[in-house]
Amino acid sequence: DWTMGAYRDEAIKAIREQVGDKQVICGLSGGVDSSVAAVLIHEAIGDQLTCVFVDHGLLRLNEADEVVKMFRDNYNIPLIHADESELFLGELEGVSDPETKRKIIGRLFIDVFQKYANEIEGAEFLAQGTLYPDVIESVSFSGGPSVTIKSHHNVGGLPEKMGLKLVEPLRELFKDEVRALGRELGLPASFIGRHPFPGPGLAIRCPGEITREKLEILRKADAVYIDQIRKHGLYDEIWQAFAAILPMRTVGVMGDGRTYDFALGLRAVTSVDGMTADYYPFTHEFLGETSTRIINEVPGINRVFYDCTSKPPGTIELE
Ligand code: XMP
Repeated sequence: DWTMGAYRDEAIKAIREQVGDKQVICGLSGGVDSSVAAVLIHEAIGDQLTCVFVDHGLLRLNEADEVVKMFRDNYNIPLIHADESELFLGELEGVSDPETKRKIIGRLFIDVFQKYANEIEGAEFLAQGTLYPDVIESVSFSGGPSVTIKSHHNVGGLPEKMGLKLVEPLRELFKDEVRALGRELGLPASFIGRHPFPGPGLAIRCPGEITREKLEILRKADAVYIDQIRKHGLYDEIWQAFAAILPMRTVGVMGDGRTYDFALGLRAVTSVDGMTADYYPFTHEFLGETSTRIINEVPGINRVFYDCTSKPPGTIELE
């Protein structure tokens, strides 16, 4: 792709100019954006880059191990695997307001990056895979009045006290352009084709209060749902799919017994850039089979809903 080739050369030049001979740490999430940012920056400045993968306890089933392995197998970039789940889950205990959750997570990410930066001699920059839609949705929405829809965890600048300056080489790009840049940089197709996963992770798929019990149920249910989507060959047709654990218990019957368990919401959308989205038109057979599998395989769920809201008026995530 000619355009992306030119973009890549420009971006590399700009990164070198900004960073000079200083060290950069890059927050890696396992998503396309931060992976592309890391590889691009590595091309620009080589071993002046260290990646930090933060496990905040809000990742999907087996995700931390898979992302770290995927990265170590494919790239020779120093990578710190930071298990900070106790810190994040502790601070989120008892918090149910969506914006408060997001702000806590954003603040803790900065604290953690700062902590690791302090251990690296000459670390003056923090790199993030912030995209253009992240920037605008945190400020206004679809050209309408200036209303904050969601505070994206990775936007909004850094507090004064933090000594790190931001490097955001994808700030002008949309998702499809980031994927094109990723192909240009030779990233494996498995990186490029991954559905987006938000920085706040499962926190925003667990509306209301987050508990370890709910997270564990959600991880299992989400894994069954994604497995169903892959088995039916639908993964690449869908922009993003995930399960959310709803903040209510309902009554059911299983075998001879009464159940009183959580309800699960399933979400799947098609989109080009995440700014607008349509719900995915699964067949009734698919939905029925998936609901049956989840209820049989995941203790703690006795009811499954499919979310058929497009964006707008819904957002993709539940919070
Ligand atoms: P919404 O829910 O705003 O999501 O319609 C649009 C896209 O953005 C992702 N998303 C985030 N990504 N940090 C991220 O890195 C965030 O705080 C965040 N919030 C939403 C969401 O998964 C979807 O792809």
